[in-house]
Amino acid sequence: MKLPRPLLVALLVLSLIVVPSKADLDDFFNGFGFHFRHGRQQQQQQEQQEQQAQGNDNQDPPGAQVNEPRGSYIAGAYGIGGSPPPPQQTAVQPAEPADFKPAQTVITNNLGGLSVGFYDRSCPNAEKIVADWLAELIKTNPSAPANFIRLAFHDCAVGGCDASILLDSIGQGDKVEKGSIFNGMSLKGADLIDDLKMRLEEECPQTVSCADAIAFTANEAMAIAGGVRQRPLGGRRDALNSLATLADQNLASPTATIDQMSAIFKRLGFNQEEMVVLLGAHSVGTAHCDLFMDRVYNFRNTQKPDPVLPLPYVEDLRRLCANPGTPQFRNPNVNFDETPYALDNRYFKNLVQNKALLLSDSSLKDDPRTGPTVRQMAENDTLFPKRFAELFTKMTTFNVLTGLLGEVRKTCRSTNN
Ligand code: HEM
Repeated sequence: MKLPRPLLVALLVLSLIVVPSKADLDDFFNGFGFHFRHGRQQQQQQEQQEQQAQGNDNQDPPGAQVNEPRGSYIAGAYGIGGSPPPPQQTAVQPAEPADFKPAQTVITNNLGGLSVGFYDRSCPNAEKIVADWLAELIKTNPSAPANFIRLAFHDCAVGGCDASILLDSIGQGDKVEKGSIFNGMSLKGADLIDDLKMRLEEECPQTVSCADAIAFTANEAMAIAGGVRQRPLGGRRDALNSLATLADQNLASPTATIDQMSAIFKRLGFNQEEMVVLLGAHSVGTAHCDLFMDRVYNFRNTQKPDPVLPLPYVEDLRRLCANPGTPQFRNPNVNFDETPYALDNRYFKNLVQNKALLLSDSSLKDDPRTGPTVRQMAENDTLFPKRFAELFTKMTTFNVLTGLLGEVRKTCRSTNN
């Protein structure tokens, strides 16, 4: 059938508009922060094909070298030590939704190609090895679960759950994620994974990835701390790259605003209600004094504490974070709440009473976008451990490498080649 010329031209123009080129798609994903993984996956696929073609054998990993920030205190790295935190942005705050609904299960079916029982044939004891190892570790290090829950977040939020956070160096000499201002000295638990990986390698050589080692450990840590137990999803593979700059862009400081945090969680696929639940991870573990001391001694250079903090709480914190600005200052860790080993809703109960260590957490209660969830979690003791487990599981599926992508590292600190 012969189409009239004007119709043909119109169809041609339409096809150019509605069928995006590969470059258009790249630009689109770049705009949403997916550029790193998107480009990297292609590069990895190409490298894998080349390696397979050459029958490349794995070589010894290069010498480990960590580019960690220097200095005694964490806050210096964040740029908040001694000076007042940057002023909070005045967020455009939509009215509180009239029909605020109780939290619902939001797990999607998109599990990124992962599966439960992934190692049932190749390494049937993998999950048990992780559980036994963690149970043993906790006897001497009860903070380990908190360390691993944060480690998983810092791995997943930066390009995906791919153990990029464990690399000590990369060939190009760029600073790795460990060297980001948000990791560095405050990153705990990364070195502990070495021992676990050794045990996994003894039982099943080059089978269980470091990315799964982190995710399985964090899942077990969550269950031990009181989150509703889930059997972990496996099948993640390990990244070949790690960049501090990417961590700088995708993690947030303890003075982050709700808008800044929301942007991070949106990239991970979470809305603001889910963000609040996940921030409930601050129900376990600790924060260093110098990350919140301004609020206790000199809020916004007023020489007074943050006016929202209750006085007895300020006094407690002053006792714990004593001697600021003197050589006696030791920058200790302070528990986020009274039950630092339990993943319970104590953190939310404290938020309701304005008892939040971090400025970023303190803004959650009064903002109409996040306040209802804070109160919901505070009021229902059983809801938080359940909701957190669901969302944490979803978080640990973010942007994973599966199939032929990435590799299974022999040691978690370096790539195989
Ligand atoms: C994007 C918003 C977030 C900010 C600004 C933030 C900030 C912080 C800061 C400043 C600390 C204290 C670090 C130190 O002094 O050593 C901390 C600790 C912690 N964070 Fe977050 N965090 C955020 C989100 C999350 C999420 C989503 C999780 C997990 C799902 C998480 C889990 C933890 C845990 C468990 C600790 C305690 C770690 C330990 O004691 O070893 N955080 N966070």
